[in-house]
Amino acid sequence: MPLNIPTLHKIEELKTENEEVKTFKFHSLEIAKESEPGQFIMVWNPGIDEIPISIAEATPNGEVEIAIAAIGDCTHSLHQKQVGDLIGLRGPYGKGFTLQGKRICMVAGGYGAAPLRFAARRAKESDKHIVVLEGARSSTELLYIEEFERSGCEVRISTEDGSEGYKGLVTELLEKILTSGEEFEQILTCGPELMMERVCEITRRERIPTQVSVERIIKCGCGACGSCDLGGYRVCKDGPVFDAEELERTEFGKWKREKSGKRIAIKRNVSAIKEAELLSIPPSRFTPEYEPLLKTEVCGIDFPNPTANAAGFGVAGNLLYRYAVAGAGAVVTKSVGLYEREGYPNPTFFEVSPHSYVNSMGLPNPGIKNYRREIEDAKYADVPLVLSIFGKSEEECREVAKIAIKYPIDMLEFNASCPHTEFAAVEHNPKLLSRIIKEISNIAHPKGIPIAVKISPNVGDPAGLALTAEKAGADAITAINTVMSRPIEPALDIPILGNPTGYGGKSGKELAFGGKKIVFELYEELRIPIIAVGGIFSAKDVIEYAKNGASVFQVGSALVSEGFDFFPRIKKELKDYLVANGYKNIGEVVGEAHRK
Ligand code: DHB
Repeated sequence: MPLNIPTLHKIEELKTENEEVKTFKFHSLEIAKESEPGQFIMVWNPGIDEIPISIAEATPNGEVEIAIAAIGDCTHSLHQKQVGDLIGLRGPYGKGFTLQGKRICMVAGGYGAAPLRFAARRAKESDKHIVVLEGARSSTELLYIEEFERSGCEVRISTEDGSEGYKGLVTELLEKILTSGEEFEQILTCGPELMMERVCEITRRERIPTQVSVERIIKCGCGACGSCDLGGYRVCKDGPVFDAEELERTEFGKWKREKSGKRIAIKRNVSAIKEAELLSIPPSRFTPEYEPLLKTEVCGIDFPNPTANAAGFGVAGNLLYRYAVAGAGAVVTKSVGLYEREGYPNPTFFEVSPHSYVNSMGLPNPGIKNYRREIEDAKYADVPLVLSIFGKSEEECREVAKIAIKYPIDMLEFNASCPHTEFAAVEHNPKLLSRIIKEISNIAHPKGIPIAVKISPNVGDPAGLALTAEKAGADAITAINTVMSRPIEPALDIPILGNPTGYGGKSGKELAFGGKKIVFELYEELRIPIIAVGGIFSAKDVIEYAKNGASVFQVGSALVSEGFDFFPRIKKELKDYLVANGYKNIGEVVGEAHRK
């Protein structure tokens, strides 16, 4: 497997398709041979941003074509590029279309024609009858009509101004065709969300299986950060192509998320957005199993098992809910602050060596006042919920904590150690850390909410710092946060991360060595429990962290490599180990290395 990191590719050809769209052609055998219609690649405009773009064509001889519409800063700047300029590419990512039946109708709106062009060409290779309905405001905006025709598709056009084809919306054209008796075994659609929602309404009524290519804000591109959440699905990993039925129990067509993760309505012409319109569809209640070998009590909280996701692997409550259903014994939110933050430009997350990643998301979060709904969604799973919070001053942290304790949370985790924000991490100022922890304790402890403090190896004396936190009122220490790093693109000699400073934090496999050592040191110094995080990929890692002194085990990078299946696998491996070695409960392992 190639590393999940942008690699530079020369622009081989550029073609202006219409006023808005240019086709970029690259040569990459590696990307082309893996690409399926509906998948996307991440396109890095060095020093500017990295954006997801659907694959418009990928051929066996390595040609990769993408359509870029100039609609934002990054795409406008890409339009200034010339043949021979270098662009970073990685992928392909996501789940593409699955073709079904002999007669397929593809409904394209605007640059949504791009992935359908690739799908249509592939479908024609297996001799299917393809009808393409392409809609645009005006004939000058039509895209890839010639390419569809050249690959043998029957193309029908609609324009809103009537400059070509049917005058009106492409969804009206679809309805007309279906009511005239034409039959299809499948519909594929890509275009503006409200258009696709209407397509789904029509095809549901007509009972035609439908696949939809959805667009959301994509940051990491590989299922780590959860920015592209749609009803608990990660569009970058679980999509972008979904069966229409999968979308029925989501907010598809109703609301989406901004870069910060804040919810915004999709419907146009709505002046006042009612709160209720931004709600999720509630999942069913989930009660976890408290397994005798794995159940754990920490800070007075009963955990069904001692695993959890690490902070940062999910903004959305629905995604946290999915971790719990997969088997996590607790869930941890993205770090939430007082104010909404959209985070840094991409690249924000990539792989630097196998299973080790660097991230610099930039603390994107909707702000604590907007976070209630996420917590309520997560709480449909009855596992302990840890709210990760941050703030740069006592005042800010006090305000965050005052709002946080009104939510149905089980624990706070104060993130003292994000290694790359524009303000210094609080862990570099032990006096400030002490004041903040006292402040938060005064607010949270009367409500029975314990506080963990998350520290990193980026300070000289983590155990001394942890002791300071304990004395100030911390109930647990979470260790370790990511290790400061600054990866450089060698040919361009610029940082790869979009963070203006180029700094990020390294997570994953390589973190476990240092993490286990620090947990060992913490256990020697502290009376409070330790929550381990850093490079946990196997039961062996959990056991080593436990022997060194940790009681709860958070997992981040392994979720990128393995996905939700990580939780059931690790639980089984742990139980096998405990039974084989005569332990009655995982708690008996905790701190064993210190009793030898
Ligand atoms: C982010 C990264 C971290 O390592 C962390 O502890 C908190 C936040 C981020 O970039 O958002």
